[in-house]
This record gives sequence, structure tokens and C-alpha cells, in this order.
Amino acid sequence: MPQVATPYYLIDENKLLKNLETIRNVRERSGAKSVLALKCFSTWSVFGLMRQYLDGTTSSGVYEARLGYETFGKEVHAYSVGYSLADVREVRRYADKIIFNSLSQLKAFSREVRGVKTGVRVNPGFSHSHFDLADPARRYSRLGVRDGKALRKAASRISGLMFHFNCENDDFGNLSKNLDRIGDEYGDLLEQMEWVSLGGGLHFTKTGYPLAAFCARLKAFSEAFGVQVYLEPGEAAITGCAELVTTVLDVVHNEVDIAVVDASLEPHMLDHLIYRTSAKLAFPGPGRFRVTIAGRSCLAGDVFGEYRLKTRLKAGSVVRIADAAGYTMVKKNWFNGVPMPSICVKRLDGTLDVVRRFDYKEFKASLS
Ligand SMILES: Cc1ncc(COP(=O)(O)O)c(C=O)c1O
Repeated sequence: MPQVATPYYLIDENKLLKNLETIRNVRERSGAKSVLALKCFSTWSVFGLMRQYLDGTTSSGVYEARLGYETFGKEVHAYSVGYSLADVREVRRYADKIIFNSLSQLKAFSREVRGVKTGVRVNPGFSHSHFDLADPARRYSRLGVRDGKALRKAASRISGLMFHFNCENDDFGNLSKNLDRIGDEYGDLLEQMEWVSLGGGLHFTKTGYPLAAFCARLKAFSEAFGVQVYLEPGEAAITGCAELVTTVLDVVHNEVDIAVVDASLEPHMLDHLIYRTSAKLAFPGPGRFRVTIAGRSCLAGDVFGEYRLKTRLKAGSVVRIADAAGYTMVKKNWFNGVPMPSICVKRLDGTLDVVRRFDYKEFKASLS
């Protein structure tokens, strides 16, 4: 077993496999293909496993599209909120499908993308999101086309539509109702298309999700309009499969016990800071010792959460932060020059691979 110092992200392929098997199961029962949303998870060291279960990748811009093409293969969907001409010329080398965010971008680049399947993102005007920040249909949203009339005029120039209208949606009833709405409002358009992407944000790999009903609904949607359905799982593909493993450096007291660990929220698990959520712990388990777990940066609010644990933390204790795969490694930054967690993978056969270590040279090279 290689020695690895904390902090490190630890991806467990056996846990990942459970999600991947669900994704394959959905494909077999519903016909819906799944492309991995690289914006959520781009750790290509586990793509060897993931590509056996997913149909390809989807991206938010040229670099992700290229990464998908180079490291994952299969289908490459390339969406961007805004392409430049140079972007389009490059991305068409990698992409099977290019999805524009607006009709003006479709018009501007139609000639450039001749021969590549082209789609447009639609903003249906409704969504499911617990966070305004991540609500694609929030007021004044720039994400996707709202104008149905203009969309219909452009229909002959595209082969598909993308609706990304969910964020952390584990409510199947809500999804089903919204698919009815999409069918009612865009059915005539969908009938002219070859494919439709329903985007990401669907928590269908969560324990207890009504998979049979989900698959039947997707199949019925696909058959009703004669379209190939795509899903773009990000979080659903990797949920529960990684931890951020840290060591307590110090315990200070200010009304409560505060354990400072050798990682930090802002550079290593940024979304908890953005969405003001608390991290879940994988270890130690729950108990009677009250403690706040905080990061080592200078930010006063660098706090992973408040817990009651079964052991009292002290310098040297190990703390494993759960659910550390999605929107973490893709967002890490060098704030405070906090040492970057290594990336480790526990393979299916139990061997531990340290796939990436970072050191001072990378910190220095990220600046000039
Ligand atoms: C267009 C698009 N597709 C897919 C996703 C992945 O979403 P999630 O990670 O919630 O499944 C996102 C997330 O923002 C997105 O914007």
C-alpha cells in the first residue's frame, strides 16, 4: 500500500460502480443514453471504468470537450454559454454534437458547424432547484432560448434540443409533471428533432429513487416524439463515491471546540461555501462530543460544519469528509497557498493508486 499524506481525495471505484450500474440499467430499460457532465467531475483516472457504463461526455466549453475527447472517448457533446469563433473552430474537431445557448450563436456559427449535429438549449421557463444561484430558469436567466416562435423558425437548422432545468431533483413526481409540460409546450418541435437532452440535476442513483417509473417515463417520452433521449448526469454519476481525508492540526476553544484540519473549504470543497451547506462526515461517526470542524485558511467562515461525534478530536485525529467527488476537484484553487489534496483511487480490486500529488511548484506555476 503506497503511503500518502493527508489531505487527499479518495475515490472508491466500488462505490462508483454502484452508480454506474444504475446508469446502465436506466439505459437498458428506458433507451436513454447518459453522457457524463465533466463540469461536475473530470478526474480522468477513473474514466477507464466509467466509459464502460456511460455513452460519452458533455462539456461546458472547449477545454472540457477536448478532455472528454482525449480521455473518455465515445460521444462528445459540446455546450457552451458563449462560444467565440476560435472556440467553435476548435470544438468541432472533438464534438459529435454542438449545442448553442442562443439563436444568435446558432446563426453566427451555422456555416462553421456544417456536418456536425447541432442543437440549441431551451429555457422552458420552469425548473426545480433548491438554490436560486443554480436555478437555470430564474428571472433574467441567460441560459437557453425562451422565445418559442423564434425557436420554431430555426428548427430546420438543428437536430436536437437541450433542456437542463433541474438541480438536485430527487422528486420523480415533479420531474414527470415537468416532462408533461415540455411535451405540451414543445411537442411539435420535438417531433422534428432526432435527439433531446434532459440535462443533469436528476438524483436517480439515490437509494430509494423510483427507477422503474423513471425508466418507463423516459421511454414513453422518447416514443411519444420519436427522439433519442439523453441524460447528463454529473452528481448522480459520482454521488457518495469519494471522501476528502484530512488530519486535525489543532483544536482551539472559543465557546465551542473547534478542530482545524489540514484542508480548507474554499479551495477544496468550494460549493459548501457558495451554497452555505455543511459537509457530511464519513468518519468519525456520530456521538456525544460536540465539535466544529474548520479549515486552515484565513477565512473566518472556513467551516466544514458543526458535529456531535463519538470521539473527541485532537491533533493527529483523522477526519474523513463525505461526498467529496462532485464540484470539488474541478473547482479547486490555491487560495492561501493551502497545500492541494492529492488524488487517490481505490481500484475495484482494492489497490490504492495515488494518481496525482501536488506541490509548491504547481502553486508557483499557477501564478506568474
Ligand atoms: C447543462 C448541464 N448539464 C448537466 C449538468 C450536471 O448537473 P448535475 O451535476 O447536477 O447532475 C449541469 C450542471 O450545472 C448543467 O448545467
